[in-house]
Amino acid sequence: MAEQIEIFEVGPRDGLQNEARLIPTSEKIALVDLLSQAGFRRVEVASFVSPKWVPQMADSAEVLAEITRVDGVSYAALTPNLRGYDGAKAAGASEVAVFASASEGFSKANLNATIAESLDRFAPIMQIARSDAIPVRGYVSCVTDCPFDGPTPAENVAQVASELFSAGCYEVSLGETLGRGTPDAVDAMLDAVTKVVPATHLAGHFHDTSGGALANIEVALSHGLRVFDASVGGLGGCPYAPGAAGNVATEAVLKFAEQKGFSTGLDKKIIAQAAEIAKEMRHG
Ligand code: HMG
Ligand code: MG
Repeated sequence: MAEQIEIFEVGPRDGLQNEARLIPTSEKIALVDLLSQAGFRRVEVASFVSPKWVPQMADSAEVLAEITRVDGVSYAALTPNLRGYDGAKAAGASEVAVFASASEGFSKANLNATIAESLDRFAPIMQIARSDAIPVRGYVSCVTDCPFDGPTPAENVAQVASELFSAGCYEVSLGETLGRGTPDAVDAMLDAVTKVVPATHLAGHFHDTSGGALANIEVALSHGLRVFDASVGGLGGCPYAPGAAGNVATEAVLKFAEQKGFSTGLDKKIIAQAAEIAKEMRHG
């Protein structure tokens, strides 16, 4: 039997958060409901951040309230602080994610905090989530390059990933936020990170600005990573990372995984349909 790769679908959050047009809540719900039929185990659907910072995500509680939940699918939400965690919990998020940066410039731009301050904000989330039995995922952004600080030293990524993992994040997703990282840079970064967090607790989160995301996934596979974040239709970017394009497209990762002899457990027809809808949302 083919070895499995898990694709963690982030389109409804990382994808849509960057769209300038305010997308009607009903369209977001329809996309999530379709994705729920595709075989994903985890779909990131919401973000409890300041609506002044990311207006597109202001209807996250409504999205979580109105989607048709499918057994076995975890519906994830980003939480930058305790207020966001409380909102995500009240809305019934199955799991939450805290998000830090490996570079100070992006941390300031994205969270208005230093890396250390952001980790301090996450500590009470970790504590309460543990007692609520809500799993917490961790993100580290700018793992090879930062739009403000330039190349990111691999040891900085290892340091932040290790702090998130020891704080209790069940998985740390490594965000190549800008989509400019070369395979060599990703290789060096993963050499450092896998020394402090086992590959089985890491995910690759590649943006595809320069068309290099699949080559970087290949490098990550060679380091033992088997979870990759992706976005149907290649939606996305980050409003606080100038120059970053969308996430690597789910349908591209699916095809690539199959070419490499891995299975994903995903329904290709539904993914193709969702990718079309995502592209229409972008241009709608
Ligand atoms: P701040 O301005 O320093 O904090 O923002 P504040 O405490 O002064 O709050 C500002 C306003 O937001 C206040 O409202 C708060 O009440 C409110 P006002 O008094 O002005 O009316 N507020 C909130 N509202 C709703 N939910 C909350 C919340 N917290 C405060 N949870 C803050 C600090 C963290 C809030 C802000 O910086 C923020 O929301 N940042 C989020 C930015 C973001 O969402 N970025 C995109 C996600 S990260 C990403 O995409 C990267 C990733 O994909 C991986 C990768 O690719 O690298 C994960
Ligand atoms: Mg991202």
